[in-house]
Amino acid sequence: MKSIKKNSCDINAKSSCCSNEDDSPKKDLKVHWDRAYEKTIVEKLGWYEDFPEPSLQLIEKCYFNSNARLLNVGVGATTLIDELLKKGNKNIIAIDISDKSFEELKTRLEEQSNKLDWIIDDLMNPNELNKLEPVDLWHDRAVLHFFNDQKEQDKYFLLLKKLVKQNGFVIIAVFNLNGAEKCSGLPVFRYNEKMLSEKLGFDFSLKESFDFIYTMPSGDKREYLYTLFQRD
Ligand SMILES: C[S@@+](CC[C@H](N)C(=O)[O-])C[C@H]1O[C@@H](n2cnc3c(N)ncnc32)[C@H](O)[C@@H]1O
Repeated sequence: MKSIKKNSCDINAKSSCCSNEDDSPKKDLKVHWDRAYEKTIVEKLGWYEDFPEPSLQLIEKCYFNSNARLLNVGVGATTLIDELLKKGNKNIIAIDISDKSFEELKTRLEEQSNKLDWIIDDLMNPNELNKLEPVDLWHDRAVLHFFNDQKEQDKYFLLLKKLVKQNGFVIIAVFNLNGAEKCSGLPVFRYNEKMLSEKLGFDFSLKESFDFIYTMPSGDKREYLYTLFQRD
């Protein structure tokens, strides 16, 4: 049974962890993300989805078999994992910088959590990730857009290109060019399809993309771009 956190964050308060108004410097990102998951119940986080419909829609297009290696970067406590397990996927890899997010997800999944590979790592300074066997899917929702400068973006795409198999798929969901300028109090870098295609380079083909308006638990809207690429 999930316990209600005493300090659960008021998502309408200007200084809350879910607000876009928090300008305090976030030097240590692991501390920032651990705090986000500690302060707020998962269902009130500004990126929580009851049902990850747009991701599932794109994953369906990949026709994976149940043994496909599905890497979820910056997985947080997403309900996508529950849905992939329900569909019988046996090879799910979850990575995040925040072990607090893993505590939340493991508690919700109960014994099902034993079916996943769990990796605490930093996409900007990968250690365990560098040792990973290639994957059939790189899935990222609401992570890439936190990497604001070119060097960070280069590190992200270098790792992605190292890990995605030939004919493997990439799903990236980020704030689109109309999207908010901040998320979780951190500045974000917004994208369109062309920008993502350029970052991935010529051997990744765009298979599908769409804009999606996500409604936060507070009722506010956030504009996302969902993309599906395949490596040639
Ligand atoms: C906005 S949340 C999205 C979580 C999840 N993808 C979802 O859609 O619910 C961003 C996630 O990225 C993780 N994250 C941020 N920076 C990271 C990094 N450098 N390496 C790994 N994970 C990171 C955070 O801990 C957090 O769980």
